[in-house]
Amino acid sequence: MVKFSSYKKKIQQEGLAFDKQVHFRHKKGLIPDLRRLKKNYYFYNNPWRDPEFFKIQWMGIIQKILGIVNKKKQSKVLEIGCGTGFLSLEIARFGHQVTGIDVSKYSILEAKKYASKQINKKIKKRLNYHACDANEVMLEEKFDFLIFYRSLHHFANIPKLFKNLNKFTKRNCKIIVCEPMRQNFERKNAIFANLLRMTCQTWQSYEKKIPNKGINYKFIRNNEKQVLNEYKYKSNKKKYTQSPMDNSIDDPIRLIKELRKFYKINKIEYFDAFIDKLIGGLRGKDRLKLAKFLKEFDNYLIKERILKGTTLFFSGNKK
Ligand SMILES: C[S@@+](CC[C@H](N)C(=O)[O-])C[C@H]1O[C@@H](n2cnc3c(N)ncnc32)[C@H](O)[C@@H]1O
Repeated sequence: MVKFSSYKKKIQQEGLAFDKQVHFRHKKGLIPDLRRLKKNYYFYNNPWRDPEFFKIQWMGIIQKILGIVNKKKQSKVLEIGCGTGFLSLEIARFGHQVTGIDVSKYSILEAKKYASKQINKKIKKRLNYHACDANEVMLEEKFDFLIFYRSLHHFANIPKLFKNLNKFTKRNCKIIVCEPMRQNFERKNAIFANLLRMTCQTWQSYEKKIPNKGINYKFIRNNEKQVLNEYKYKSNKKKYTQSPMDNSIDDPIRLIKELRKFYKINKIEYFDAFIDKLIGGLRGKDRLKLAKFLKEFDNYLIKERILKGTTLFFSGNKK
């Protein structure tokens, strides 16, 4: 009984944390539509800062997701943890019927508002949003695709989640998962990230990042530790995750093991060794060229198995 109520409380806090974040981002002018992205200088090192950074960092993966879904026409798609619905909307534009669910009431309100005001009626009809906990959701239809885009790492009990969601998936349902797996950000990743942050033109001036006095072993090591904690969303004093359920699962091996109980693997790929908190922070007139180079270099280091990727891309078929 105690366990149950503490879970309820956590889930409520989870929703509230994202209500707050989304409300703030909305006030800062973020539009949940990939076709209407604008520069947004509220973000200092996040790719949402500039549509061009977003394209370089995320469009490859989004195209992959669309490529898989678009192999079938007019599918029924369930997106879990859809936030304000930018991915659900994009999928609906290709003719699919999309249901997005999220525990953040404000996110769902924003998604609904945007769907009703900003997009044409045909597309609006294809979108359905519900504010609820995916562990306990009850739906009336069955789906061809189940999608998690940066949300599955907020679920602590994967078997419980899939036992519930399996009730609403068709026999040949496909799953697509794209998740940050922060355990993969290791010391080697931090060394590269630290070096690039210090040497590239970024949101911090060289004056600030490289003091005249005091560059020594300790300075470099301290910076590296800071970078490590930042990428892992941890600090020495406290956790500074986005919400209480953030990083509930951050080990890709464990996640894949859990997913394989329910889904046969089609593809596993990794991205983002160091690029995540750097790309949106690049500055200077050549920042986009540099961003493209660093993105490719990041892919290269993962392919060569020099660094681990911290974004897991998984696609599979229901067993
Ligand atoms: C990091 S955000 C990603 C949101 C969106 N996919 C995006 O990329 O902008 C994680 C999302 O998962 C949602 N979430 C967390 N736990 C959930 C749950 N139990 N049921 C439904 N949604 C949940 C959060 O409210 C949040 O919107």
